[in-house]
Amino acid sequence: MKTDMSATKSGPIRIAILFSGRGSNMQTLANHIATPQVNAEFVLAVTNRPKAGGIEVCEKLGVACLIIDHEEFDSRAAFDAELDKALRAAHVDLICCAGFMRLLNADFVNGWPDRLLNIHPSLLPKYKGLHTHKRALEAGDKEHGCTVHYMRPEMDDGPVIVQKTVPVLDSDTPDSLAARVIEQEHIAYSDALDVVLKKMAGN
Ligand code: GAR
Repeated sequence: MKTDMSATKSGPIRIAILFSGRGSNMQTLANHIATPQVNAEFVLAVTNRPKAGGIEVCEKLGVACLIIDHEEFDSRAAFDAELDKALRAAHVDLICCAGFMRLLNADFVNGWPDRLLNIHPSLLPKYKGLHTHKRALEAGDKEHGCTVHYMRPEMDDGPVIVQKTVPVLDSDTPDSLAARVIEQEHIAYSDALDVVLKKMAGN
């Protein structure tokens, strides 16, 4: 099934957030969505990890959190189909991946054209995949950062919506650099959401 992109909605945009870990990006996105000037509702969270720290974040927010454990599925396609079904059942308009560490297949991604966002801890197209902070340090980069982008079937690929940069210091370790980047991630995702919502509203 394909989401109808031509429709402009007047009601609040129904947002789902997908996560696998501690959920700090989800928390800051939820805070942003809750501000009166944002015409959106955080209607559903989904995680593929039954022990993800973000589940507690959802409990505190009072947001429904669905656990779809990928280990219970025989194939990637079966997991993706279940995820797709849950999102459509909740009448979701826009999906934000926030530390969702699962590749989604092309059928899934193509079913949500420009309705599927992701945040990645690097200045894409640099350092797709894992261990981005370590790789930036090893390369001797003087600048690093994060990217929010529309998702396409290729991993960590798709049109950039917002990028934020941070300096890389001589004294940095992967952890200290990650701490500087995550602060920018939290700002970047809210900024990107504003851009996308404006576009969806036809402005
Ligand atoms: C964030 O740094 C996010 O950019 C990264 O996972 C972390 C999740 O943190 N995502 C990816 O690497 C996806 N390719 P959080 O659970 O605290 O939001």
